[in-house]
Formats: sequence, structure tokens, C-alpha cells
Amino acid sequence: MLNIPSLIFHLSSLFSIAVSQQEPQVFQISNAPLRYTVQRTYIGNDFYNLWIWKTFDDPTHGRVNYVDRQTSIEKNLTYASEDKFIMKADSSEIVPPESRGRDSIRIESIEPFSEALIILDLQHAPTGCATWPAFWTLSQKGPWPKGGEIDVIEGVNQNTKNLASLHTLPNCIMPDIRSQAGQTISNNCDSAFNFNQGCGVVSVQETSYGSGFNACGGGWYAMERSILGIKIWSFSRCNPPPPELQNPSLPINTAAWPLPDAFFPFAAESCSYSEHFDPHNMVFDITFCGDWAGNAFPSSGCGPSECAVFVDQNPGAFSEAYWEINSLRVYTPF
Ligand SMILES: *[C@@H]1O[C@H](CO)[C@@H](O)[C@H](O)[C@H]1NC(C)=O
Repeated sequence: MLNIPSLIFHLSSLFSIAVSQQEPQVFQISNAPLRYTVQRTYIGNDFYNLWIWKTFDDPTHGRVNYVDRQTSIEKNLTYASEDKFIMKADSSEIVPPESRGRDSIRIESIEPFSEALIILDLQHAPTGCATWPAFWTLSQKGPWPKGGEIDVIEGVNQNTKNLASLHTLPNCIMPDIRSQAGQTISNNCDSAFNFNQGCGVVSVQETSYGSGFNACGGGWYAMERSILGIKIWSFSRCNPPPPELQNPSLPINTAAWPLPDAFFPFAAESCSYSEHFDPHNMVFDITFCGDWAGNAFPSSGCGPSECAVFVDQNPGAFSEAYWEINSLRVYTPF
């Protein structure tokens, strides 16, 4: 989730352009389409009933104060209606220096899942200078990174391209050539490699994250996890999505969808699914600065102040730092 030296990014993106011209592409999930049935739907108040508010110090060292459920309701930082669930960072208060940071939200699903297809319909995703929001899944048991981490939506500051990545124990390496539309940053998923960079793939779509995504009125993200691999897609509302995203009563056939932004295949020799992944909970959060957004802040066009000072002094800069969720559905194969 952090520290991507730009040199490495440039080298690896050149490399992935070079290799992606070779045919045929190897490592595809089997052609037999998985059939799915909806296991859980989260809309509006379901988030209050089926998710837990986490209030610990941010493990990624952000300038953030994760508030509890009661506080989030009192301050209107979370808000549910019949067809929406909204989670906001505070955008009205100056933060005192002795505080942990700006008030914000981190929630975790009570129910875990393993092999599943998750479809998130968003109207708006958090964005803005100093922000580092994420939607991701995490091993229930740990200790981190045992059992794995799957980052579905992630980015910082004014980014407009989504980063999808895995973070694991050692010995999980992704192949250079894969059936994906995005650009590989690193193939090594080991969290101990290169300051927990993870094996990341950046979308090539400027509408896959942040202000670009929000300008389209949001859209959908999907993550399919099977024993053969993990696929992550983003679909903004600027383009027609697969029909079953607009109409959840249609049968889902991910085999007919376009190439995913990111594809992480599993194989016994390179990255064993059973060794690296166990049941996960889903997580939404919005943090500020810290290991990635803070380190990237000076080169993000957001300066010249220091990131944490910017967070403390500029409440109005966080008016776009909110998740507006239309629905989240978890499907399981049968
Ligand atoms: C609380 O937040 C929601 C969603 O942003 C907004 O529609 C509503 O007006 C807010 N309520 C108050 C009392 O500010």
C-alpha cells in the first residue's frame, strides 16, 4: 500500500508494455463460467447492522482519528437512507495538534467470505489532497500479512487511476504476462518486499479512481476471488457496464466481461492460494497522509505545506472525502 519509487514504476511500466505485445497470453482462469448466487446485500442501514466501526490508531500511520459508531452518527459522518450509505471525513473542524488527526471512518464487515464475487456500486468515492481511501479485504485471523490482503480500491491525493494489489507472506510471485488491462508495478506480493509495496496493478483508465470516477457519477468495482486467481474490475458510469451490474436480477457471467484491470493468478509453485489466503472481512476506510499519501504528498501538486499540517488546517479541503454507496453485494459460486 505504499512507497512506490517512481523509477521502479517507470521501469516496470516499460517492461509490461514490452511483454504485453507477446502472444499468446498465459494464465487465464478456466473458461468454464462460475455461476453465482447472491449471499449478502448491503444497502443503507445494513451497514449499521452488519459492520463494525474500528477506532484504533491507523496501522499505516495516518493523521486520522477513527471515530466510533455513535460519534459518527452524532457528527453525521455516517448517514443511512433507504437506498444510500454515506461515510465522510470531517470537513468542518480545525484539528488541534494534540489530536490523533482528522475525524474519519474505518468499518469492517462482520461476515467473512472466501471464494466470492463482490460488486460495489458507488455514487462517489473519496478524493482530495492528503486523502488515502481504500476498499479492501483482510484475513480475519492474521497476524498480518498471514492469510492475505486484497486491495480493490486504493489511491492517494489527486490520483485518478486505481491501484489494485495483494499483500502476502513471502513466496507469492505473479507472472509477467497475464490477462489484464492494467499496468503492473510489481510482481512480488510479499509485504516484506520494497517497504510493503505489494504486487500492484494500476488501471489505465483515468475514470477508475478519484475525481475522474466521480465526474462520471461513480460506477462499479468488482472483485472475483477463486482458487485459481483474483480479478479486479472498475467500470465508471461514463461507459455502459456489463448488463448484470445495472440489473442485479440478471444471471452473472464474469467470463463475458471485458479483461479485468488486474489479474492475480495462483499456482502451487509461484503463489499457492491455500498457503496465502484464508477467509477475509471487507474494510472501508479513509485515512490521511501516512505511509503512502504522506510520502507522495510533496510531489502530488498539493503542497507546499507538510501533509499533516495541511490536514489539520484545511477542513474545507476534505469536502470530497466521502464514500457514497448505492449497494454492495457478495455473490458466492454454486
Ligand atoms: C447528513 O449527511 C447527509 C449525507 O451527506 C445529508 O444529506 C444530510 O443533510 C446531513 N444532515 C445534516 C443534519 O447535516
